[in-house]
Amino acid sequence: MSEPKKLYIKTYGCQMNVYDSERMSETLGGQGYVETQSPDDADMILLNTCHIREKAAEKVYSELGRFKGLKAEKPDLKIGVAGCVAQAEGEEIMRRQPLVDLVVGPQSYHRLPEMEAKTRTGAKALDTDFPEEDKFEKLKNRPKAKRGPTAFLTVQEGCDKFCAFCVVPYTRGAEVSRPADRIIREAQDLVERGVREITLLGQNVNAYHGAGANGDMTLAGLIWELNKVDGLERIRFTTSHPNDMSDDLIEAHGTCEKLMPYLHLPVQSGSDRILKRMNRSHTAESYLRLIERIRAARPDIVMSGDFIVGFPEETEEDFQATMDLVEEVKYGYAYSFKYSTRPGTPAAERPQVDPDAADDRLQRLQALITRHQREIQDAMVGRKVKVLFEKSGRLPGQMVGKSEYLHSVHVSDADVAVGELRGVEITASGANSLAGALI
Ligand code: 5AD
Ligand code: SF4
Repeated sequence: MSEPKKLYIKTYGCQMNVYDSERMSETLGGQGYVETQSPDDADMILLNTCHIREKAAEKVYSELGRFKGLKAEKPDLKIGVAGCVAQAEGEEIMRRQPLVDLVVGPQSYHRLPEMEAKTRTGAKALDTDFPEEDKFEKLKNRPKAKRGPTAFLTVQEGCDKFCAFCVVPYTRGAEVSRPADRIIREAQDLVERGVREITLLGQNVNAYHGAGANGDMTLAGLIWELNKVDGLERIRFTTSHPNDMSDDLIEAHGTCEKLMPYLHLPVQSGSDRILKRMNRSHTAESYLRLIERIRAARPDIVMSGDFIVGFPEETEEDFQATMDLVEEVKYGYAYSFKYSTRPGTPAAERPQVDPDAADDRLQRLQALITRHQREIQDAMVGRKVKVLFEKSGRLPGQMVGKSEYLHSVHVSDADVAVGELRGVEITASGANSLAGALI
């Protein structure tokens, strides 16, 4: 038998890309590839790129430049660019960086085997279409390998919201939901391979409306179906839009036992003036009322969010409104970013905020968020939680896992195996994790 070819994938950006990289690796597995952790011994290098913030495209070009020596040594090495930069830049990548053999957009991964074969003839392969066929069905070619206890599962892709700062509606296209039965089959398959916790993914996951047995299903409907899957212990989902937080989903947070008490619900800003300019179609007040309802259904839920500071025309007063909103919600986790111009989006043309002012606001916001994070984490001390153990810790005998609230918890001298779900009493709170003892 010939040596397997080696595939090196580097993944940037969101969890969707992590999921997509796994699917690409499995598909190319069908072509005789196995994954390697180093580009040096690879026969194919794939960069799965992200275009959401920063100078993403420039980073990709500089990373590609670093493979020049490798390619000179090994002329058969194939180099590919996947993901949202591939979608946004397409032919430009091929033109600017002759090292690249293959460019594939996020909707075309199932065509990788043909594309790879084409590159083997010395030709270049480019596909950034939005094809009609279901790429996930075509990507089913998965080996039945054992897996860790947690997994991502993409249920919908794309977004129709067109927030004024965001490239997703352009790079990932219009919102498309996968049929429910395929998702449930994939979940069952994951459970058979050792998975205990599934995080449902989508750029707008709570807008999910996939075909079900009796017409379209909501995300809550899908969660209830997954709740029935034997051996699956935990369900999470991300990322949600406030306007798609339907009543049945809020209710599920109170009643569905496998749905975890953690919700990532980005608001982006606390200023109605800025929210309007962002095309968010909700207000700070409507968001706060929504959180009240979610907390009424599940009082101990830990909230998480995303913020952009320094959005065009943001004043100090607008920023204060964001600080006030954060003060009111108290997030257990929150991700804050300085606005970065994405060419082709509506906000790119508008007057920009002074970068020093934006830096200063980002620091103040992050300090406040960190304080809340720490308070929420500290308040866990003395409480009993359930931990899904994921790996061994840094110290001998130590095991690490996640609580239902997504806090990292480590236990010393723990007689537990990876994949076990056990009761733990929290004994101490550190900078980024909790310590506990098995009950
Ligand atoms: N600049 C800064 N942050 C952005 N995000 C999306 N687009 C931009 C941009 N142009 C942030 C939003 C989103 C998260 C995934 O990334 O907060 O929720
Ligand atoms: Fe981008 Fe999210 Fe807005 Fe969609 S809802 S445009 S993915 S920020």
